[in-house]
This record gives sequence, structure tokens and C-alpha cells, in this order.
Amino acid sequence: MDVLRAIETRRSIGRVRQDPVPREDIELVLESAVHAPNHKITEPWRFHVFVGRGRGELARARAELALRMAEAEGEEEDLIPGRVSRERKKAFRSPLVVAVISRAGRDEVETRENYAACCAAVQNMQLAAHARGLACMWRTGPVAYHPFMREFFGLGEGDEIVAYLYIGYPDVDLRPRRRRPAREHTTWHEG
Ligand SMILES: Cc1cc2nc3c(=O)[nH]c(=O)nc-3n(C[C@H](O)[C@H](O)[C@H](O)COP(=O)(O)O)c2cc1C
Repeated sequence: MDVLRAIETRRSIGRVRQDPVPREDIELVLESAVHAPNHKITEPWRFHVFVGRGRGELARARAELALRMAEAEGEEEDLIPGRVSRERKKAFRSPLVVAVISRAGRDEVETRENYAACCAAVQNMQLAAHARGLACMWRTGPVAYHPFMREFFGLGEGDEIVAYLYIGYPDVDLRPRRRRPAREHTTWHEG
């Protein structure tokens, strides 16, 4: 698929089928990530691939996170099991989930630029997946930012969970994209 067409036609799609994604396509998506620009070639990305039954690990972490959050928020006792169960199930929304982690740099600027490079990597992954007929949803939220999940992945200071990319074959029709044209956000400096 032509890159401009891929950019134009990609959509975030949350509803996907459970059909497995072929291993070679998973690897192609991961390879596309490492082609992203990264300043000083720090190659800051780390990937955790949760696939098939391996999603259980993520599900258990999500359940534990939900329990801790519910307790910290003083959630009513009888509502907690439902909340934990809903969070656990979210790990199985797609046949494949890739967590993308950005490693800390040697100083604050490098850490920031590493994060930026990982965002570029995630978009490469989304476009590569799209070119293979796969749908993606970049998800974050507490599962990306809570200290418990940082601990789960063994992150240190400055490391970040950039994205959970939920990937599978689309199960819905594409929505039209809503965007204002670039000219509304652009100032030209032409001398
Ligand atoms: C940093 C980042 C975090 C996101 N987190 C979520 C999320 O937690 N849940 C979600 O439904 N979508 C999430 N998205 C996807 C956006 O909602 C999506 O890109 C937006 O709706 C535009 O749709 P499009 O990608 O089809 O153009 C995230 C996107 C980015 C860039």
C-alpha cells in the first residue's frame, strides 16, 4: 500500500475479531517500529508482545491494577469484583497486544526525545498493520501510567509505557475521519 494512502485510510479501530494474527505479520509490525527516526540512534523502544494465552499475564496485571485502584478509591466492596473482572477482560479485546516502552535517556532531553521516537515507532506500527489489513487501537490510561504497571514491566526512572497497541482484523466498518485541515493550524513564514 502506498504510504500516503495508508496514512489517509488508517483508522483507530477497537472492535476486532479474535482470529490469530500470523507470526510473520507480527514481526513485520515490530520491524516497522525500529525503522522510526531516533536521535543519536538510541533505539529506545522495548516491546512486550502478549498473544493468545500470553494475554493472560496482561489480564492478571490489569486485574491487580483494578483491585488496587478500587481499594485506593474506597470503592464499595460489592462493586469491586465486577470492576476487576471488566479490567481483566480488556486484555482479551484483541488477539494481540503489544506494549511499547520507551527507555530513559542519559539526560532529560534524551529521555524526551526517546519518547518522541517511540511515538513515531508506534505510528509506523499502525501503518504497517493497516497495510496488512489489520486494525489497531493505541490505548493508554492508568494501565500505562500507574506505578503498579511500571513495576510490572520493571521500569526505572524515565522509562515510560508509551502505548498498548491492540491489534487484530477489523470487525466494524470504518468511520469517517474528523479533522480540521492543516491550514487551520499553520502559520507560513515565506519572507
Ligand atoms: C497517546 C495516545 C493515547 C491514546 N489512548 C487511547 C485510549 O486510551 N483509548 C482509546 O480509545 N483511544 C486512544 N487513543 C486513540 C485515539 O483515540 C485515536 O487516535 C483518535 O480517536 C483518532 O482516531 P484515528 O486514529 O482513527 O484518526 C490514543 C491515541 C494516542 C495518540
